Order: sequence, then C-alpha cells, then structure tokens
Amino acid sequence: MNLDAIQEKALAGIAGASDEATLQSLRVRYLGRRSELTAALRGLGKLPKEERSRAGAAANRVKQAIEAAFAARSDALHRSREESIAESEWLDLSLPAPVSRRGHLHPITQVEEQLDRLFRGMGYRVVEGPWVEDEWHNFDALNIPEWHPARDSWDTFWLSDGNLLRTHTSPVQIRAMRRFGAPLRVICPGRCFRNEAVDATHEACFNQLEGLVIDREITPGHLFHSIRAILAAILEEEVETRFRPSYYPFTEPSFDVDILRDGSWMELCGLGMVHPRVLEAGGLSSEEWTGFAFGLGIDRLAMMRFGIDDIRWFHGGDLRFLEQF
Ligand code: DAH
Repeated sequence: MNLDAIQEKALAGIAGASDEATLQSLRVRYLGRRSELTAALRGLGKLPKEERSRAGAAANRVKQAIEAAFAARSDALHRSREESIAESEWLDLSLPAPVSRRGHLHPITQVEEQLDRLFRGMGYRVVEGPWVEDEWHNFDALNIPEWHPARDSWDTFWLSDGNLLRTHTSPVQIRAMRRFGAPLRVICPGRCFRNEAVDATHEACFNQLEGLVIDREITPGHLFHSIRAILAAILEEEVETRFRPSYYPFTEPSFDVDILRDGSWMELCGLGMVHPRVLEAGGLSSEEWTGFAFGLGIDRLAMMRFGIDDIRWFHGGDLRFLEQF
C-alpha cells in the first residue's frame, strides 16, 4: 500500500474516533509494530540507495502527520469531555444560599425567662433544685408527714430507691434556706411531676415558679402587696384578681389567687405566710424570722398569655403549634 493511502486511511480513522479507547487501538493499528507504516519503514533498507533517502523522508512525514493527528484528536476529545462535565455539573456560586431554618424558644421558656428578669429586677435570686427529690424535702420538711392526708393530693412517681419526682417547687424553699440562710429572697422555677389524670388543664409534667421571702417581721401586708405588684407586672394589663382563703400545710394562713378570664375565675397561684415548722426545717429560728411564699403555675400563665386552650399542646412536639409563638 502506498504511503498516501496509509495516511488517508489513518487520518479518516482518527477523525472518526469518539473516545480515548478507540484512539488507543487505532494508534496500535496505524503506528504499532505490525502496522503497514512500520512495514514500509522497515522495507526502506531494501531500496536502492538513491531512492532510500527520498522514500525515508516521505515515510517520516506520513508518520509525523499521523502522530500529529492523534495528538490533536486526543486534545479535542479531552476538551469536549471537560466541557460536558462543566455543562452537566454547573454550579452558580453567586446564588444566595438557602436561608437556614431558625428555631426559637418554647413558649414556656419564654414566659420563664420573662419571670426570671422580672424577679431579678426586684432583688430576687434565682435558684434551682433537683427534679428527683427525696421524701423529706418534698413532704416532711414542708410539714407534710407521712400520715398527712395532704399527701393524697400530691400523688407522684416513686423511684425504686425511695426518692420521687418532685410534686412542686416548694422543696427548693428548704434547700435555699439551708444553703443561704436569712434574710432571703429567691425564686425557684422548674419542672414538677404528678400522677395526674391528664386533661386540657392537667399534665403529669408541668412547671412552677416558687417564691420565698424571709426577713424579720414580714406580715400578710407584705405578701398581698408583693403578689399584686408581681401579678400586675406579669400580666402587663389590668386584670381582676381575687384572694381566697385556702389551705397548704407549709403556710399559715394560706391563700389562693384567682384571676378573672373571660368571665370565669382561674386559679393561678397558691401563697401564704411560711409555717414556723418550715422555717425550722430550713434551719431558721421561727422566733427570729418570718416570711411569705408563693407557688405560681408557669404553664397556666403561658396558656393565658398566648391564648392556648389545652396544656397538652406544650409537650406534643408539633412544630406547627410551636411556630406560632
Ligand atoms: N406547692 C403548692 C402546690 O404545688 C403551691 C404553693 C402554695 C406554693 C402555697 C407555695 C405556697 O409556696 O405558699 O400546689
């Protein structure tokens, strides 16, 4: 086969190769040891001398032309592969990033934080106690001995080691008195638990805020004034309140405060003058010290504030509910 025909065939084959693998096998076919071109070059030796250099130069030109065609085709294939990747994996780095979803504080936490700020501004110290409490702090120290019928209204979850999930934040009164002594002004917010028949206004797990003020010669006058001032600050509006005589073993006398909501009274807070036995359990002399205490339902306050009609919403974990507040 003459060199021109070899070149023509090779160039046509190269031009039609659509990937590197095909190109590689064509390289073997047209430039390899058993190719027609290699055979032609090998045959040069047999030519008469005068012809040999001319034919050699011609064969080399053909070889170079074929090699150049391979290189060009390989470049072109490479470039088109990159272009197609760039096309299919194209990314606009100037686009604004999607806005990430931001959460916010749970409505109960919002109310709790507001109460913290309010009471701190009035000189109260914020203290917390354990959720798993011992019987003495939760009951006995609060003047609720084992035989006391009041224990029935604070039924809770007992642990196998004899401890219990606290039924109110009142045990933190005892812990605070023993830890800080008197005079004292503290609030104790936190989670409480009861073995409760759950309904729209009762949860087995709920939140209270305990308040305790101890000083010399504290009178019910201090109590009523403080509670009115506190409620006015919390509710941020004029609401009608009602103080009712009540009973708690840890206060004497005891009261409940109701507020008027949509024509009906809603119980918000228990309160009273700290019982002498509770002062003594807190390590304070009841001859020397006096005090008042109150226990506020945080969940009820949050329900009122946000117009929530069922306490069970708080723990439902339904984001459609929580996102409203
Ligand atoms: N611990 C009471 C309860 O859970 C609430 C309470 C009433 C707290 C009167 C007080 C208080 O500090 O003086 O029902």
